[in-house]
Amino acid sequence: MTKPKILVTRPLVLFPSARAIFDAHFDAEYFPGRIPRDELLKRVADKDGLVCLLTEKVDEELLGIAKRLRMASTISVGFDNIDVPACSRHKVVATNTPGVLDDTTADFAWTLLMAIARRVLEGDVWMRSGTWPGWDLDQLCGGDVWGKTLAVMGFGRIGRGVARRAQGFHMRVIYNDAVRAPADVEKELNAEFVDRERFFREADFVSVHVPLMPETRHLISSENLGRMKPTAYLVNTSRGPVVDEAALAEALEQKKIAGAALDVYENEPKCNPALLKRTDVILTPHIASASVETRTKMAVMAAENVVALFDGRVPPNALNPGVLGVA
Ligand SMILES: NC(=O)c1ccc[n+]([C@@H]2O[C@H](COP(=O)([O-])OP(=O)(O)OC[C@H]3O[C@@H](n4cnc5c(N)ncnc54)[C@H](O)[C@@H]3O)[C@@H](O)[C@H]2O)c1
Repeated sequence: MTKPKILVTRPLVLFPSARAIFDAHFDAEYFPGRIPRDELLKRVADKDGLVCLLTEKVDEELLGIAKRLRMASTISVGFDNIDVPACSRHKVVATNTPGVLDDTTADFAWTLLMAIARRVLEGDVWMRSGTWPGWDLDQLCGGDVWGKTLAVMGFGRIGRGVARRAQGFHMRVIYNDAVRAPADVEKELNAEFVDRERFFREADFVSVHVPLMPETRHLISSENLGRMKPTAYLVNTSRGPVVDEAALAEALEQKKIAGAALDVYENEPKCNPALLKRTDVILTPHIASASVETRTKMAVMAAENVVALFDGRVPPNALNPGVLGVA
């Protein structure tokens, strides 16, 4: 029996356990590097399944070309790269990889939070410049983390992980979400639900963990940044367009907030040039889930989703199970 043909948009050299699953079940074609859009459209045309990253858009154009496609499996929890309603119209099952990256991403949000508050990068640059004259009382004084108020925007899997870590720093935790968390979760994490107004006004640290959707685009706006304390910091490890980068640069310039740490950008791989030159900003290249262990789990999970579909089962992380007649 011929195996289903799938396109995997990266070589997955670092993740042999995921590759082993693809090779055992499928006639798998791996793209050797970062796949350009025209190559993606060309190579997906005769495939039964697609395994992609958040850098590849699965949209009406692709679905119209890939007539045989039954599956689009993204190796990411965020699935704003996939037009799920369009997939449903084309009877393509879409899947993501939730859950396996929560702690690694929460760790990284904390890495950024600590680094921006305590001016770690500025210190590193100073040391390497060879111009540090030795200890002094007023050097690189940042803001304290312990005992402060952490404000978590989007209290889902990752947001809760970030809140959990705050307990060790004796912080007060407030959160805002479209849906209020159950009382037992609030109790366990010692977290208080607040409205948007209080959220921004009371925060010492805002950490953002919402998915990118029309409602969350530019949620971190000029207006909301203006509500924050001049001593407060912003951390974004969600999706770039959730933050209005121009408004952020302006807020920093006007000292409306003390600093920001970003892992994601409005127009990746670009970052607003006004942010690039600031020392009160830390910028990392979308690496919040980038540990070998976690990226391996994500790739394996994406593979298991594809295997399930072609075995006649509902993929565990189907975003539109209705395509398979499941509610
Ligand atoms: N930087 C990275 O590498 C990286 C890694 C992992 C996840 N992410 C991003 O983080 C996001 C969150 O991941 P998760 O697994 O915690 O998702 P999740 O679905 O568990 O949590 C998202 C939360 O946001 C809330 N929400 C939705 N719309 C909202 C709104 N308008 N206002 C307030 N809250 C709203 C939801 O109710 C939910 O509680 C992902 O969608 C992804 O985009 C980025």
